[in-house]
Amino acid sequence: MGEGKRRITYADYLHLHDLINLQDGAGDRKISSDEHHFIIVHQAFELWFCRILFEMREIKILLAQRPVPEDDIPRIVHKLERVTEIFNLFQGQWKVMQTLTPQGFLNFRDELGTASGFESFQLRELEIMLGIYSTDRPGEMNPLEHFARMADESESSRAAYQRLVKVSEETTIREELRTWLSRTPIHGSSPDDDGDEAVVRNFVEEHLATTSALHESALQHFADIGQTDIEKIGARFAASLEGAREFLLPDGQVDRARAGLLFIESYRDLPLLAWPRALVDSVVEMEQSMLLFRTHHARMVERMIGRRVGTGGSSGVDYLDATTKMRIFTDLWAVRTLLIKRSELPPVKKPEAYGFRG
Ligand code: HEM
Repeated sequence: MGEGKRRITYADYLHLHDLINLQDGAGDRKISSDEHHFIIVHQAFELWFCRILFEMREIKILLAQRPVPEDDIPRIVHKLERVTEIFNLFQGQWKVMQTLTPQGFLNFRDELGTASGFESFQLRELEIMLGIYSTDRPGEMNPLEHFARMADESESSRAAYQRLVKVSEETTIREELRTWLSRTPIHGSSPDDDGDEAVVRNFVEEHLATTSALHESALQHFADIGQTDIEKIGARFAASLEGAREFLLPDGQVDRARAGLLFIESYRDLPLLAWPRALVDSVVEMEQSMLLFRTHHARMVERMIGRRVGTGGSSGVDYLDATTKMRIFTDLWAVRTLLIKRSELPPVKKPEAYGFRG
């Protein structure tokens, strides 16, 4: 090692001295062991949010390429899998959190004032980047309005607000994913090919016709076994077929992204669809793990504060339960309802277009 060049220590590298001196609750008070616990658990979550955001920003850049190079798909999948594992890790962290007793929490709860996880700007940034719109939120609440009000309170609140404004002006991962899906070759036809519109429409109409035939035979089976409320069941099948039509052909126009998604999910055994299918699966798995994070938080909160109003002023557990109803990648969830077993599907046209390359 050259003269004058100091060895970097473990503590230097990790800024450890700073890190373990940040648990004072932003005041001069001496904090209790329970409050120290409360602060560190929150900080651990926020550090992981920081990690998730880092990965998500890179995922967005990779997905925003036109087209997305084939060898970038495994990279995106790997990152999504990492994010999912982090969300899964949170299950254990909620358990650590709830070693704090309800009374133990009440002892210092007033010190929080109106501070609440509601103001976690990192979680908000993640939600906006993924593509949660205000209209998807309980009561169509817009978190940006809250952060705009906070912006005048301090430099750091202003910085948090600006961060959220910036991300809300960018395209979302939901949109990038839709663009990528819309480029899926369907029966060997790509969007730029002549006659693509007709190929895609035909694929969709064929799928709907098969669905209708399957409904008819299921209804016949109900009649054969003597089911009495055939009319009601028939109406359910009709509504489901109508829903499928509206999903694939909104306002009568082909939705190519949804058709592409349906094609990937239907013919998922084709070699060339292996990675697209893995990408769709890993997005669904990531959203599922995020939903479970919300659900487990709500259950922990119910155990800790019952049905009390939150420090942020929300209805508490009822509000948190309502957030578990939100879905970001709605199409990826919805397409599951439309799937038909492989043996009933028409054979893929131009199968050579989906074989292994080289
Ligand atoms: C004693 C432990 C906890 C209690 C009693 C609690 C309670 C609550 C309540 C009642 C809300 C609803 C907003 C409000 O009115 O305040 C909320 C929101 C939230 N909490 Fe917690 N929480 C706890 C721990 C945590 C931890 C460890 C995290 C990790 C970062 C966290 C993250 C969040 C987030 C991100 C929200 C906003 C949810 C949304 O709006 O979608 N909470 N919390």
